[in-house]
Amino acid sequence: MKIIIEENKQQASKKIFQLFREEINSGSKVFGLATGSTPEDFYKLVTESDLDLTKSISINLDEYVGLKFSDPQSYHYFMKEHLFLKKPFAESYLPNGLSSNLENETKRYDKIITENPIDWQILGIGRNGHIGFNEPGSSFNSQTHIADLTESTIKANARFFKKESDVPKKAISMGIASIMKSKKIVLAAFGSEKADAVKKFIMGPITENVPASILQKHQDVTVVLDEQAAAALNEK
Ligand code: GLP
Repeated sequence: MKIIIEENKQQASKKIFQLFREEINSGSKVFGLATGSTPEDFYKLVTESDLDLTKSISINLDEYVGLKFSDPQSYHYFMKEHLFLKKPFAESYLPNGLSSNLENETKRYDKIITENPIDWQILGIGRNGHIGFNEPGSSFNSQTHIADLTESTIKANARFFKKESDVPKKAISMGIASIMKSKKIVLAAFGSEKADAVKKFIMGPITENVPASILQKHQDVTVVLDEQAAAALNEK
């Protein structure tokens, strides 16, 4: 695991953009994308760049169950606003959290991932160590599935909603096994509220209680941190 520590989120986002540009230039086609506040500045740099993504494919990690695509809190909406309207991809996939048959939707999504192996995956991390919506306790063997959000995630994500009770309780998420199949993974974490999760997933035991800890076993992971998120790495 390669760890890059930058002074702040802006610098770190520039670094991620640089890694993304290198990846495009080296011919990679399929990009796994994430939502949340972490990749926002990176997406802004992409939209301001001269990169051409019209031959690339994007596959997002997750989506809430039950939110309309037009709902500003849906991940469909987030991706359009932050990236796709300004930088369209040849094809962009997100799980459909409105499907009347969610079980079939998980299978459809796994098929998409199998047919379009991800070259480069960007990940954020939850305060409890989750990746995508793979909450603590999720099986390391999981494929795309319906996930129950934990209390901690509902609380953390409530900042984007009018009230906590508006946060959906379920999401459809790429599984840990699907994420681990990506050829390269870049995990970003910014801010002091991520410091504990960062320390645990990098230095702690590999355990399903800290979903991101499985990344210790992946052969090509780069972790990009700001100083605050990296703060606990030197503690005993
Ligand atoms: C959400 C998303 C994750 C994201 C995480 C952190 O629950 N499902 O993909 O990485 O929270 O979000 P943020 O970047 O806003 O801290």
